[in-house]
Parts: sequence; structure tokens; C-alpha cells
Amino acid sequence: MMKSTILLASAVLLTGSAVVSSRFPLYSRNNDFQPLPNIIFLVCESTDGRTWQRGYQDDVIPLPNLRKLEDDGGISFYRHYSNSPVCCPSRATFWSGKHAHKIRHKQRIKNNDPFVVNGVWNNFEGLDPSYNHTIFDILQLHGYATYLSGKQDYVTGGHSSNVRFDAWTMYTDFPYDIPSNGGWREETDMCLSEGIVHEQDDSIESKYWHGDWESLRETIDWITNHTKKSSDKPFFAYQGMNIVHPQYVTNQRYYSAVDPNKIKVPEWINPQDMHPCDLQASMLKGCFAVNASTNTDADIERRRRIRRIYYAMISEFDAMVGRYVDAVQKDLPKEVADNTVFIVTSDHGDMQMEHHQFYKQAPYDASSSVPLLIYDPRRRRRHQQQPDISLHHQIVSHPTQLIDLFPTIMDLAMVPLYHRPSDLDGHSLLPLIDSDYYSAKQLVKEGHLIGSTAAINTRPNFVVSQYHGDLTAMSWFLIVETFPCVAFDDDSPKVPTTDRECAMKYIVWGTGTEVENMLFDLTHDADELVNLINDPKYAMIRQLLDEHLKSIVEYKAVAEEVATYNHQSFQRWVNVTSNWKDILASKSLRWHISWEEAGNDQAIAAVNQWISEPPQVKACRKHIVWPTPAANSEKWD
Ligand SMILES: *[C@@H]1O[C@H](CO)[C@@H](O)[C@H](O)[C@H]1NC(C)=O
Ligand SMILES: *[C@@H]1O[C@H](CO)[C@@H](O)[C@H](O)[C@H]1NC(C)=O
Ligand SMILES: *[C@@H]1O[C@H](CO)[C@@H](O)[C@H](O)[C@H]1NC(C)=O
Ligand SMILES: *[C@@H]1O[C@H](CO)[C@@H](O)[C@H](O)[C@H]1NC(C)=O
Repeated sequence: MMKSTILLASAVLLTGSAVVSSRFPLYSRNNDFQPLPNIIFLVCESTDGRTWQRGYQDDVIPLPNLRKLEDDGGISFYRHYSNSPVCCPSRATFWSGKHAHKIRHKQRIKNNDPFVVNGVWNNFEGLDPSYNHTIFDILQLHGYATYLSGKQDYVTGGHSSNVRFDAWTMYTDFPYDIPSNGGWREETDMCLSEGIVHEQDDSIESKYWHGDWESLRETIDWITNHTKKSSDKPFFAYQGMNIVHPQYVTNQRYYSAVDPNKIKVPEWINPQDMHPCDLQASMLKGCFAVNASTNTDADIERRRRIRRIYYAMISEFDAMVGRYVDAVQKDLPKEVADNTVFIVTSDHGDMQMEHHQFYKQAPYDASSSVPLLIYDPRRRRRHQQQPDISLHHQIVSHPTQLIDLFPTIMDLAMVPLYHRPSDLDGHSLLPLIDSDYYSAKQLVKEGHLIGSTAAINTRPNFVVSQYHGDLTAMSWFLIVETFPCVAFDDDSPKVPTTDRECAMKYIVWGTGTEVENMLFDLTHDADELVNLINDPKYAMIRQLLDEHLKSIVEYKAVAEEVATYNHQSFQRWVNVTSNWKDILASKSLRWHISWEEAGNDQAIAAVNQWISEPPQVKACRKHIVWPTPAANSEKWD
């Protein structure tokens, strides 16, 4: 402890001196000089974190390559969360290591002067193009060669305009009427589709996802080139895959490898029993049938097939990981292979038909949890040298989050504190990993891991995520925290088991008062079907979670700020766009059918009404017809 304090102090002293030699090319442990590790960072799309867990639906998804890495001493994180489950904000959070509500950036409407936005509030928003404190910027500064390929999507302004129009108008009372005309919904028909299986295609590299395979080859090429020409310089190679993002498409090879009988098909409850925000999200995502007489949404076999295709896609991603592992372990010199760490994760999950939804954007685990595997071959080498040190698949079930990757990578690469951004919100994951290899404390003692000391003792037992963008009807905030299980098992007396932890999730909608919030016991209710928010037994836990959530994000203030920002941005846009009504109803946005079906005039009237009122956080609407007729307001039946 004493030692740590001293090291921190010296690191602070060094902060000002940018001229200090930036590189720690070698570190010594027991006089054993070792090079900095290479890092391969693979980020797929839309993967529900639970799908990589052992035993998930009786191991329905073939994941031979990931399993091999696990068996070879890999580390899996089973409660890992996206900090804002939609592409651009999520990627902005992990590349910068900051929470979504802390990513200030400039936004612009058409060619007008840019204005400052305090957070990444929707999928149109991310890091400023000039932002230069990302993980790879810092690694470059530290002497790493870096290469980025495939899907990047973390810079502001990259997405189509509809994502921000949709987010801006979140609190507009657009008219809808589900049974007769499809209601208010986005016009992607993917949620009601049957998915696509290319039956003629039996290749390992499916034709539909060939772009990912091409980026993969290019990246492996770069790694090979780099290793040949400058093997003393460590590398950091990133590929972002598109795979697993809907639409749901696979080929025969992967489809037939998923046993449909193992698939658990999610139950759907009646629309009138749904939480109002689930109902709205489902409608916005086009998951309710447009036409009651072609009501495919209730079809269990369709749901099963969609999940089967989704799992087949995840299996193809596993094959991509395998290709990387082979390229490194079989084709590169052994000393490079033995020193190359893999970090494999996803930007967010996918509802995969749970709670009457697909896509992400929801606070449920299907959407907000992501898988994470860290594979470090140096653990194996250490095990070979000292067989008493075990080499096993380690599973970390403490809550962790994507913004933790920044300090984790900094620790792995031994980046001294004075080269790291001072405002990182995450915590290194290394202290959670068994200390056989990552004796972080030992490294600190030896003076090699400057800056990590803070991470060792201050990691809280919880993580936080939030979302404010399109395809949902209110801002939400969530916290996942672990407690000793016995703490809330009070009416069924149990022997206190200090080794068992229960994970609770608390979800706040809007400012916390507009609709019912949610509380789930993730350990006993993994599908998040039983809302415990009003259960007096959990009152204390709820209060504690609320306090902890607020310690990270003042949710009331943030929800109100987003409502104001939406209101102002929309007005700004209207002010400089004379034909804004035509644009909103145009076919280039994906919601023109809704405008026409609901009656464009009524939709414009709703917008005008919303704009004429002060900005306000409004409750998700719970009726299936809107505006509700004075009498007979529920006419679902
Ligand atoms: C980021 O850019 C600024 C302005 O160009 C520059 O002064 C600074 O050194 C850069 N920082 C890093 C980490 O590259
Ligand atoms: C790797 O080197 C080859 C041969 O010099 C070159 O053609 C190729 O473009 C390089 N690939 C990458 C990704 O740098
Ligand atoms: C609903 O589907 C039926 C059968 O396909 C069709 O006859 C009917 O016109 C559709 N109704 C609407 C409102 O689109
Ligand atoms: C839009 O224009 C109106 C009228 O000119 C003006 O009062 C308002 O401040 C403008 N709003 C924004 C957000 O620019």
C-alpha cells in the first residue's frame, strides 16, 4: 500500500514532462526480459453476451475456436456490458474510455455553425473527428504500430439522418393505431421477416459476409508484413466485423450446424400487459404486425428460425476468430505467437426476439450485455515454466463494462500513467483475473506498472449503461451490481454463503418518475421477466442501486438535458430546412409508410404541438391506439 502511494506520486510528477522517453519496450520480472505484448482486438456486432457462455441453451451455438482459446487459459467475462447499446455511442465509449454522458463533441446541422453537445445522445453522435486520445492513439504514442480495419463507426455524423430525426422526436405524440394500419413503427421489415438462408452456399466464408472476410485477410496480411519488417515493435491490430448485425442472414453450412430443437423460443406476453416502453420499442422496431390478418409476429416457428439464423451468424464469427488464431499460431514465428494477446468482444447485443423485439437499444441483457474473451498465451508459457501455476478457463462474473477495456489495454501494454488520459471512467480488468499471471500488485512492486495502482482497489461492484437514441421512447439508465445472495433472501432463511453472489439490475426510465422503473434478479431470472421494483423485500437494495447509479450519472438531469437537446436540435433543423415536412415523409428515410398510414397531416400536427410546448421528458405511451378515443380506449380485442 505504502509502495503504491509512492508510485502514484512519482507518476503524477512525470505527468508534466512529455519529453520523458515514451517507450517501455521491455520489462523485467525476475530478470526475465520480455517484450510488450502484441494485441489483436476483434469487435463483432450485435452479440448478446449470454450466447458465448458455456451451457447457453445446451450449447446450441457451435463455437469451437472460442472454446479452444478458453481451454488454453482464456478468460471469459460473463457479466460484461455495453455502456450505451447502439453502434456509434458504444464504440465512442470504449475507444475513449468514457461514459456516454461525458463525451462532449461538436455537432452540426447542415452547414451551420457547430454547437457543443455534452454526450453521445443518439446513433448520429460519437467522438469528434479530431479526437486523439483513443486507445490506438495512446498506444501509438507508446511505440505500438497500429492497424484498424473493417467497421469503425465511432466518429460523429456517420449515420443516416433518420437515426437522429427519430431520436429528436422521441417525445412527440405521433398518432398510431396498431390493429388497423400497423401503427407507429419504423419501416424495416426485418423484425417480421423470416430471415435468409443461402441454401446453395456451403462455404466457410459465407458469401453474404464476404466483406468481413476480406477485411480479415487484409488485417492478417498487415500483421504478417509488420512481423517480417519490424519484429521489435509491438503491434495493435483491430478489426470491426459487421457480422451478427441484422438483417439475419446465413448460409447452409452454419444454419445446419445449429440444432433447432435446442433453441429456447422466448414467450411473448399480451401487448396490453407489456411495460409501456417495451410496447413502444416493439412498435418502433416494426415488431408488431402491420396487418392483423397477416399476423406473423405470433408465430413461434418464425421466432425459432430467426434465432437459429442469429446463432449461425455467431458461429461464423467464431470461424473468423479461428482464422486469426491459426494465422498467428501457425504462420507467425513462435516468439510472436507466444506474445500475442486476443481481446474479443461486441459493441452491443441483440434482443433476438425476446420481449417482443429485435435489435439493441433496450436495457435487457440480450441487448445491453456483450461477450468478452481475453486470451493471453503468456499465461500458458508461465504455466509451462511453473507447472504448479494452473492453466484453466477462468470465468469472471463480476459486472464489467466496455469502457474497462481502455485501462485494461493500457495495463497490458504497460503504458505509464503520464501517457494515459486522466479522465478514464473504467477500471482495469486485470485485477479481476487470477493473479497467477497478472500479478499486477507484483508488477507495481517491481515498479513496472505505473498507474495501475488506482485500479486495484477502487473498482466498484457495479457497472452503468444508458441509452437515449432512436427506436426507443424514453431515455433509460441501468446499473448492474452484485450482492451476497443472502442479503435479499430474507423470507427463505438460508445459510449465508459468502462465496455466492447475486446480480441485480435496476433500470430507471426518463427522470425516474414517468413510468414504472424495473428491478431484476439476474441470477434467478436471467430472462428478466419478473419486475421486482414494487416488492418491499427489495426496497433497500433498490435504494442502494439508485444511489450508486446516481454516483455515476445524475439521471434526472441527463434525461432532461437530452429532452431539451432534442427539442432544440429539431428546431434548429426546421429553421434551416424549408421543406422539412417533405423530408420527414420522404422515402429516403425509413419511416415514410408510417407517416402516410397514420396520416401525414396528423403527424405534422403532432410535431407542431410538441415544438410549441417546452421540452419535457414524457412517459412511454401504453395504449395500442393513439390518440386514445374518448370511450372504448382499449380496442385490442
Ligand atoms: C492531440 O492533438 C493536439 C492538437 O493537435 C496535440 O496538441 C496533442 O499533442 C495531441 N495528443 C495526442 C495524444 O496525440
Ligand atoms: C503486405 O505486403 C505486401 C507485399 O509487400 C503488399 O502487397 C501488401 O499490400 C501488404 N499488405 C498490407 C495490408 O499492408
Ligand atoms: C391485410 O392483409 C389482408 C390479407 O393479405 C389484405 O386483404 C388486407 O387488404 C390487408 N389490410 C390492410 C389494412 O393492409
Ligand atoms: C428558430 O427560429 C426561431 C424564429 O426565427 C427562433 O426564435 C428560434 O430561436 C430558432 N431556434 C433555434 C433552436 O435556432
